[in-house]
Amino acid sequence: MAQTKKPVVVTVTGAAGNIGYATLFRIAAGDMLGADQPVIINMLEIPQAVKAAEGTAMELRDAAFPTLAGLNVYDDANKAFEGCNYALLIGARPRSKGMERADLLEANGGIFGPQGKAINDHAADDVRVLVVGNPANTNAYIAAASAPDVPAERFTAMMRLDHNRAISQLAEKTEAAVADIKKVVVWGNHSADQYPDISFATVGDKAASELVDEEWLDSYFVPTVAKRGAAIIEARGASSAASAGSAAIDHMRSWALGTPEGDWVSVALPSKGQYDIPEGLVYGVPCTSDGGDWKVVEGLDLNAKQKEQLKKNAEAAQAEIETVKKAGIL
Ligand code: NAD
Ligand code: LMR
Repeated sequence: MAQTKKPVVVTVTGAAGNIGYATLFRIAAGDMLGADQPVIINMLEIPQAVKAAEGTAMELRDAAFPTLAGLNVYDDANKAFEGCNYALLIGARPRSKGMERADLLEANGGIFGPQGKAINDHAADDVRVLVVGNPANTNAYIAAASAPDVPAERFTAMMRLDHNRAISQLAEKTEAAVADIKKVVVWGNHSADQYPDISFATVGDKAASELVDEEWLDSYFVPTVAKRGAAIIEARGASSAASAGSAAIDHMRSWALGTPEGDWVSVALPSKGQYDIPEGLVYGVPCTSDGGDWKVVEGLDLNAKQKEQLKKNAEAAQAEIETVKKAGIL
């Protein structure tokens, strides 16, 4: 396809890591922003991993992607975020077996303040940020707090992997195609307390709630989706990487190119108080995009059980923020 658009700058942190490796080639191939959108990729790593990142950069060049208009490797966040339009903050330590994601707060929280500041000082005015590094919601909160000149809602955390997991489980249970499932939502924090919810979902022309029973939802669906990350660590001895990268691509593509009519996606972004979610908390909600800013789907009628789940999850997310405050990270 002819490249007529001006290149945009995509910054990927943790570029030598597992998710970085799974994600960079797809960004360079045009899967994220379209085959007609040239991209300049800035890869950010810590100094010890720059050599490995340069190896990945060699491979990216060797793939001769028509959409790849430039490629740089940095160990300096100020350079990596210069003119950045899309920032994927992946670089952070993954948890190992037996840990909760919140156990990473002290190890990882300190990464996101300086990166938020570098984004504030150097990124383009239209920058859109996706935090993948765990615990993603709190790290996004830290980054947003460190970037006072960037509208807070441009800092998002990834719920799309949980969203995709929920779709996949529901499709398997109802023997439907993934493409027939609409309006699933995963509320809250990317933690074991998250609330995958099919109350508004449809499977083809039927309400999902007519096709599955409460027992399956409570005892299988919710825990399977919420604890999938731990199940993957247990099975492969390493945390999800390709599915996480794919979800990151989905998140940015939906944001930049829009969501389809009649559907929504789950996005964690700073709350404006909708659904009684405390203001400022980076919390997963259903969102649509027309290619501009995310729009939170408002006015959904929540029953007492849903409200209780949302409240419980907000409390868990707030507890993470208290932890980083006590540790002096924020
Ligand atoms: P990894 O260990 O393979 O790679 C992480 C990379 O980040 C390393 O190369 C490391 O050098 C780099 N890094 C560390 N600090 C950095 C910094 N300050 N700047 C730039 N780079 C830095 O880990 P991974 O498997 O790629 O996972 C990365 C993160 O993503 C982990 O925190 C993991 O838990 C998280 N994750 C989140 C989701 C989600 O849905 N939100 C899904 C999967 C994994
Ligand atoms: C996931 O959900 O797969 C990631 O957040 C990795 C993890 O630690 O579970």
